[in-house]
Amino acid sequence: MPETVFSSSTRGIPEASAVPRHIAIIMDGNGRWARKRFMPRVAGHSRGVEALRTVVRGCMERGVEYLTVFAFSSENWRRPQDEVSFLMQLFLKALQKEVGRLHDNAIRFRVVGDLSAFDERIVSMVREGEALTAGHNRFNLTIAANYGGRWDILNAMNRVLANEPGRTAPVTEEELAANLSMSFAPEPDLFIRTGGEKRISNFMLWQLAYTELYFTDTLWPDFNLAALDHAIGSYKGRERRFGRTSEQLQQGADGAQRNA
Ligand code: IPE
Ligand code: IPE
Ligand code: MG
Repeated sequence: MPETVFSSSTRGIPEASAVPRHIAIIMDGNGRWARKRFMPRVAGHSRGVEALRTVVRGCMERGVEYLTVFAFSSENWRRPQDEVSFLMQLFLKALQKEVGRLHDNAIRFRVVGDLSAFDERIVSMVREGEALTAGHNRFNLTIAANYGGRWDILNAMNRVLANEPGRTAPVTEEELAANLSMSFAPEPDLFIRTGGEKRISNFMLWQLAYTELYFTDTLWPDFNLAALDHAIGSYKGRERRFGRTSEQLQQGADGAQRNA
């Protein structure tokens, strides 16, 4: 069960803070970054880990509380076997190198997705890292690995139904949301996709309902603090209406506020 129940953007009007409280990122463009430099695609993935380190620090310094990044989708198994194995090795190496540092920096670390398909060394490193950092609440880093938005919603629904065999009452939004793998976090305020594609690629389908979307051509290994500030700057200029009119927001109806 979730530790805290957050308000849903469709059931109520969430508070829109000046700095996005939760940022979700599709870290895309690693392969093209490498190819532009006549390097193998996987060299881009290695550089991608460095970009992630920078962005974690940048988000913490800017007062973001939750950062969720898409590292490997449930569809990425369709890639060439060599690239998939490299990504698995890279994930293991990054876990070995970074988990202690995350703990030292009081970062709560979690992985969401279907871990059953991963090597048991990865699974045990993930579980150890999650346990080691479980006491932190200042900053939440979540890696989505073998994650898919549809998988998550179906899983949540099946969990609700499994809890009450023979149930005939309709499932509520609250029940479903409480059983999603990201139920510990508020819905993302800002979604960033690097690499130029303008699609969601089966990321957090449920939670992105009212998230502000930001797409940039910058390839993930090039995404630096200036790029992060640009994305947050774009967010600050948005009017988050959640279904209401602009006039209502200006009149301060329902505690509405602009981000800026
Ligand atoms: C994103 O970069 C990383 C993963 C999906 C693991 P890509 O590998 O998709 O890079 P491009 O989109 O081919 O450039
Ligand atoms: C999405 O990137 C998944 C990750 C970044 C992990 P892809 O590069 O796999 O997305 P598509 O296939 O272009 O939509
Ligand atoms: Mg891609």
